[in-house]
Amino acid sequence: MYKAPRGTADVLPADQLYWSHIIQTAEALCRRYGYQRIDTPLFEDAGLFQRSIGAGTDIVEKETYSFEDRSHELLTLRPEGTAPVCRAYLEHGMHVLPQPVKLYYIAPSFRYERPQAGRYRQFHQFGFEALGETDPALDAEVVDMAWQLYRDLGIGRLTVLLNSIGDGQCRPAYIQALAGYYRGLGEQMCHDCQMRLEKNPLRLLDCKQAQCQPLIQAAPKMVDYLCLECRDHFARVERYLGLLGVPYQIEHRLVRGLDYYTRTVFEVVPAGGGQQSTVGAGGRYDGLIEQLGGRPTPGIGFAAGVERMVLNLKRQETVLDDPGRPQVYLAYHGDAAKEAAVRLARQLWDAGVNTTLAVGDRSLRAQLRHANTLNAAHAAVIGEDEVAQATVTLRHLETGEQETVPQADLAARLGGR
Ligand code: HAM
Repeated sequence: MYKAPRGTADVLPADQLYWSHIIQTAEALCRRYGYQRIDTPLFEDAGLFQRSIGAGTDIVEKETYSFEDRSHELLTLRPEGTAPVCRAYLEHGMHVLPQPVKLYYIAPSFRYERPQAGRYRQFHQFGFEALGETDPALDAEVVDMAWQLYRDLGIGRLTVLLNSIGDGQCRPAYIQALAGYYRGLGEQMCHDCQMRLEKNPLRLLDCKQAQCQPLIQAAPKMVDYLCLECRDHFARVERYLGLLGVPYQIEHRLVRGLDYYTRTVFEVVPAGGGQQSTVGAGGRYDGLIEQLGGRPTPGIGFAAGVERMVLNLKRQETVLDDPGRPQVYLAYHGDAAKEAAVRLARQLWDAGVNTTLAVGDRSLRAQLRHANTLNAAHAAVIGEDEVAQATVTLRHLETGEQETVPQADLAARLGGR
C-alpha cells in the first residue's frame, strides 16, 4: 500500500474548515493593508535560492529539493516565498509602479527537514512582502499586520520577538567581536557551535544545547554594535510599534536562518514555546534585490506556516462554523415520497439551501440517524400523508421540535433565495 511521502500530509475534509478560515482571514487582512496577490511557480532556477537565502545556510545546504530537468536545467522546489517574489518584481519591472509594491502569497513550500509536529517537508506559507521603501514606519506596519493576523484568527498567547541585525556597514564588526568572544571559549561550546564559528558565526546565537546557553547570554549583543543609521532606524521602528499598540519583546539572540536579512528581524512564537513552534517570521532585506541583479531596492516581509496556524487553532479547541453543514436532510418513506423528495431537492439546491437527499435503501429511522451523523440542522420527512397534502414534516434536529410546512414554502422557510 502506498502512503503519502514522509513529511507530507493530506488535508482531509475535517481540516478544510481550519484552512478556509485561515485563507479567508489572511486575504481579508491583505485587502485591509493594501496587499495584492501574486502566485509564482512551484520551482525556480536553483541559483535564485543560493543567491538569496545563502549557499551556506541549512535551508540551501541540506533542505532543498533540487533536480535537473530533461534539458539539464538545475531547478529547486520553492523552500520559501520571498526570493521568488523579488525575482518577479525584477522580471516584471515593478520598480515603475508606485512604491512600496505590496504583494502576498499563499503557497506550498518544500524543505527536506526532519518531520515532527508542525514541521513538514511540504508545508504552506502565507506571506507578504513590501518592496521599494526603507521607512521604519513600514517595518512597524509589517509587524503590526503579522500580529493582527493571529488576532483575527483568534490564536492567543503569542509573543512578538524583535531584533535588529544591522546592515553591511555595522554587522561585520559585530560578527568579528562575536567570533573573537567564541574563539576564547574553546571546548566550552558544543561541537556544532565549533562548526558554526567557522562557517556562520551569527548562528552561534541560535544554538539550543544547554551547555551553550550561558555562553549566549554573555555574548556581545548586536544592538551595541549598530551604526548610527541602523540604531536610528531601530529606535523609530520601536516608536511606531508603540504608536500602533503592538506588544513585542526585544530578543538579542534573534538572528534568523536566512542570509538576506538586514536591520529589523522578528518572529511570532507561542508564549511558552521554543523556536520549533515559531508560527511566523519576517524581516527587512534591503540588499536582496540588488544581489539578484536589480537596482538597490529595499524590502521587508513576513511569512507564517499555515500548518502551524492549524495546529494552534486545534490546540486551543477553536470551534468554527461549517458553511457546508446541511441545512436540511430530505428523508422519505415509499416511492411516491422519494419522487417528491427528488423534486424538492431540485428546488432547494436552486434556492441555495445546503441540502442532502437521502439515497440507498435505508429505513426512515436509519435516514434520520444519517441526518444526525451529518450534523444536519433539519430533517424534512415525507411519508404518505405528506405526499397527499404536498407538505413535509420539518424537524429541527437539535430541539426535536417539528412543524408541517407546504413543500412549496420549504425553500423560503429555510432561508433560500
Ligand atoms: P522562515 O522562518 O524560514 O522564513 O519560515 C516562515 C514560517 O514558515 C515559519 O515561522 C513557520 O511557521 C513556517 N515553516 C517554515 N518551515 C516549515 C516546515 N518545515 N514545516 C511547517 N512550517 C514551516 C521565511 O521563509 C521567510 N521567507 C519569511 C519572510 C518573508 N521574511 C521576509 N519576508
